[in-house]
Amino acid sequence: MRPKFVAGNWKMYTSAGTAKALATTVAMSMKGDKRVMVAVCPPFPWLGVVASALDGMSVMLGAQNCHFEKEGAYTGEVSPAMLRDVGCQYVIIGHSERRHGFGETDDLLNKKAKAALAAGLKVIFCVGELLAEREANQTEQVLDTQLTNGLAGLTSAQMHSVVLAYEPVWAIGTGKVATPEQAQAAHAFIRGKLAGLYDAGTAAHVQIQYGGSVKADNAAGLMSLPDVDGALVGGASLKADQFLAIVNAAIG
Ligand code: PGA
Repeated sequence: MRPKFVAGNWKMYTSAGTAKALATTVAMSMKGDKRVMVAVCPPFPWLGVVASALDGMSVMLGAQNCHFEKEGAYTGEVSPAMLRDVGCQYVIIGHSERRHGFGETDDLLNKKAKAALAAGLKVIFCVGELLAEREANQTEQVLDTQLTNGLAGLTSAQMHSVVLAYEPVWAIGTGKVATPEQAQAAHAFIRGKLAGLYDAGTAAHVQIQYGGSVKADNAAGLMSLPDVDGALVGGASLKADQFLAIVNAAIG
């Protein structure tokens, strides 16, 4: 039985003050509840302040991106070891805003995933098709390529530290959520692909989150689908009451 995992991707929102308040409210409300895994992923500058707010609490800390080198002359970049050092357990890799807004390729994302895992981070690895790709019936082909190339060289043991997030790009920040049928079909395809790349046991173990306009009123329906193991939440993760309602929907 895979535990549900709800992660909040705060993107480039919040201030030091609102980040601390949001993390504190979420953590206090969870009160060590172990029925669902919860993480928040603030912008880089607030990781330290949020790590302090989460100290001793069950809510976990994630970052939204990292570089693939350990250190070096890479102005403006942050290494996986630095993220570990500041208290992160997770890092999001391959978010569509990185893929399509910053030109991050499968090959680059593969390097980042490997580096993050080598540093002891767990990875939330995002995949998902553009609207034009869905309309051209290329969804499975796109997911296949993103998974084959993005996970290349990762062992089944390493896949125990990887969470996948299926995020149809047309559903992110648009209010257009995937239908339960679309979400389940994509998640089942991803799980089948994992079985092919690895084995049935690995495929059954890996959590696959859905992301894209998850809100309090659609979260329960999505997370009750057999292959949807939680949510990666953008906009609704910035309001404690909305995020906590999604977390509660995961508890069922
Ligand atoms: P959204 O974002 O919930 O605002 O659609 C999801 C994401 O980008 O991870």
